[in-house]
Amino acid sequence: MKVIIRNNAKDGGIWAARYIAAKIKEKAARTDEPFVLGLPTGSTPLNTYAELVRMVKAGELSFRNVISFNMDEYVGLPVEHPESYHSFMFTNLFNHIDEPLENIHILNGNAPDLAAECAAYEEAIVKAGGIDLFMGGIGEDGHIAFNEPFSPLDSRTRVVTLTQDTREVNSRFFGGDPEAVPSQALSVGVATVMASKEVMILAFGSKKARALASAIEGPLSHYNTVSALQNHPAGIIVCDESAIGEVKVNSYRYFKAVEAAEMGL
Ligand code: PGA
Repeated sequence: MKVIIRNNAKDGGIWAARYIAAKIKEKAARTDEPFVLGLPTGSTPLNTYAELVRMVKAGELSFRNVISFNMDEYVGLPVEHPESYHSFMFTNLFNHIDEPLENIHILNGNAPDLAAECAAYEEAIVKAGGIDLFMGGIGEDGHIAFNEPFSPLDSRTRVVTLTQDTREVNSRFFGGDPEAVPSQALSVGVATVMASKEVMILAFGSKKARALASAIEGPLSHYNTVSALQNHPAGIIVCDESAIGEVKVNSYRYFKAVEAAEMGL
């Protein structure tokens, strides 16, 4: 894996947006096929979404030939609820860019048959040609999407039960009450994310430092599902100085040296 370290979350977020833009343009230059992008919610991608919106508004980037798949959605929360991931994505990205509505895929946590909804989602990803680039955040417990500790590393899209820790962390969006956070979600699996051609994981702030260090230096483990990135042929972590703070000094130096060498510094 590569690890890109920036001074702060804003710089890291902008780096990620420019990386996505470069990948969209690179594919458009060689084929008419759509670029297939996996997207997360949460605080982590906000700077990236703001930069993507800026680029689209400035005419520097278009999502007209992009198909997106979001990672997850709460079960049983109305789509119009301000904390649904549908609301989040339209408020922070889709309302401000030119991605056609029919290209936007978000799991339906109110589907009458949740298992069928998950199976159809996996099929839609295959039909789109597979995901070119999946961007994700990580939880303080190392989860990727809602793949909580002890999720199988070969998991696919399914119904998941959220840990009490995650409900407490997310309660900041639900009036501080963990009981108000839905207890279940639909989530792409670890293997769904890892089947993407590229995976870019964002982690900012000291609260993510322990999970990030164990994903980078610890064993490949269902205890820290983002550690699956260790086996991905094209995995990138984009983080800030606070989030990388718990890795060994030599690991930090190695990642800095690789980046400097690749950028010809
Ligand atoms: P956050 O959440 O971006 O709000 O920190 C990330 C996650 O839980 O995956």
